[in-house]
Amino acid sequence: MNVEEVLKLADELVFVKTGKHLNSLQQDILKGVWNSQKYAEIANNCNCTETHVKKVASDLWKTLSETLGERLNKSNLKATLERSQFANVSSYFLQDSVHIGNVNLCTDNVHSPTVSPPPQPQQTSTQKTTKPPIRIDLTNAPEAKSFYDRYTELNILEKYILEDKCRLLAVLGISGIGKTALSIHLLANIKHKFQYIIWRSLSTSPSLQTTLKYLIKFLSNQPETELPTTNDDRLSLLLEYLQKYRCLIVLDDLQMILNGGKLAGNYQPEYEDYSLLFKLVGELSHKSCLILNSWEPPLEISSLAGENLPVRCFKLNGLGKAGFEIFRENGLLDEDKWSVLINNYGGNPLWLKIVSRMISSLFNGRVAEYLKYDCLFLSEDLTSGLRQQFQRLSDFEKQVIFQICNESEPVSMFNLVENMEISISDILAAIQSLERRSLIEKIENSSDALFTIQPLLKLYLQTNTQNQKPITQRK
Ligand SMILES: Nc1ncnc2c1ncn2[C@@H]1O[C@H](COP(=O)(O)OP(=O)(O)OP(=O)(O)O)[C@@H](O)[C@H]1O
Ligand SMILES: [Mg+2]
Repeated sequence: MNVEEVLKLADELVFVKTGKHLNSLQQDILKGVWNSQKYAEIANNCNCTETHVKKVASDLWKTLSETLGERLNKSNLKATLERSQFANVSSYFLQDSVHIGNVNLCTDNVHSPTVSPPPQPQQTSTQKTTKPPIRIDLTNAPEAKSFYDRYTELNILEKYILEDKCRLLAVLGISGIGKTALSIHLLANIKHKFQYIIWRSLSTSPSLQTTLKYLIKFLSNQPETELPTTNDDRLSLLLEYLQKYRCLIVLDDLQMILNGGKLAGNYQPEYEDYSLLFKLVGELSHKSCLILNSWEPPLEISSLAGENLPVRCFKLNGLGKAGFEIFRENGLLDEDKWSVLINNYGGNPLWLKIVSRMISSLFNGRVAEYLKYDCLFLSEDLTSGLRQQFQRLSDFEKQVIFQICNESEPVSMFNLVENMEISISDILAAIQSLERRSLIEKIENSSDALFTIQPLLKLYLQTNTQNQKPITQRK
């Protein structure tokens, strides 16, 4: 391992344990110890006392030891971290849950015989403060991978959930922007504040009945035969749990139950009953939080959400300079050109990964060589991901987005209305919907809002428009 890898691994391990990243002194200590420096030398380089360095180091070894489940100190740091480098950090997330307090972990099935009865949150004031039990079911969540930055986003979401007591939170953004990854790290940060944590993906478009079944099976720890059979009864039971205990539920890939060919946020006909679940969770008083990850917000969330309300939407944007770490991971060269890549690919971590791998294999990592071709790379996997998103657009949305795409500069609402032969209300509805889907961006200028589209989406539209009707323009 080189020192960069050590810092990355240690940062991930500390993060799953504490929800915080390494600070600069911790990094300097790790670098120093890795390079066989003495504490006095490290202290000298960092302009602080040796005692302080020793204290920070000792806390760091303790955190790392607890996360790894084995004793780590200055003298065995190298060997221990090298052994651990291939382990998956998400397993530490789970392991951590087993190790802390009275935590019970539900690893593969909510009816596993190892699952304990529901937690007993009440404590009398005379009892010693012990951590309340936590039950976690992350079997449906993907593994945590390398993850950079997003400190601001994590802070905002933590505040929404823990301080503002947000009940329903939609994390929104285009595919690949990092909603799932962010939510996994958010959970790791705040898990100790909850008694139940469960993650369900809606990628296979399960019915409301199935989703409710999983949720209440997990919460009640009852066999399926004991569960209420109607959706109404299952909903009532779920709400009772949300009121009685602090539950954190993530429903990932929510867009899979929403409809294509219509404006953003409409349900597919057989999934409209999810609307009631979201309304109740958003409107009734309880102490839990439901996080929805989606390409677009369901309609009722758009109407219930507000800055000071318990229902919020959070739009996730691309990575800034943190995207450089993805380039570093893939061994890219020509760092002075990396900002161009971030800009061209909108800081979308998935797109950055795809283009990095291509530059690494075709250009031996030389970004400058790639940029000489003055083109964007639209690989097959990128195209098929984008196709899924564009296929969902309504006819009016398609017309509006093609109109924006045809302009070389950001375009104002006035220009769109002037140049398109569809009614103003249809144009406004289409713009609102495209914004909700994160497919267009609004730039505020002094007098007017201007709309634009990311370079990669533009390229996709330009190269995949053969079957589109030409845009009609008024003379
Ligand atoms: N902050 C980050 N640092 C490094 N890699 C990241 C970061 N965020 C996301 N990624 C990586 O980018 C890829 C896409 O992320 P993710 O799956 O979370 O996107 P998503 O928004 O959930 O996409 P979708 O809507 O298609 O589910 C994954 O490989 C993920 O590991
Ligand atoms: Mg996702």
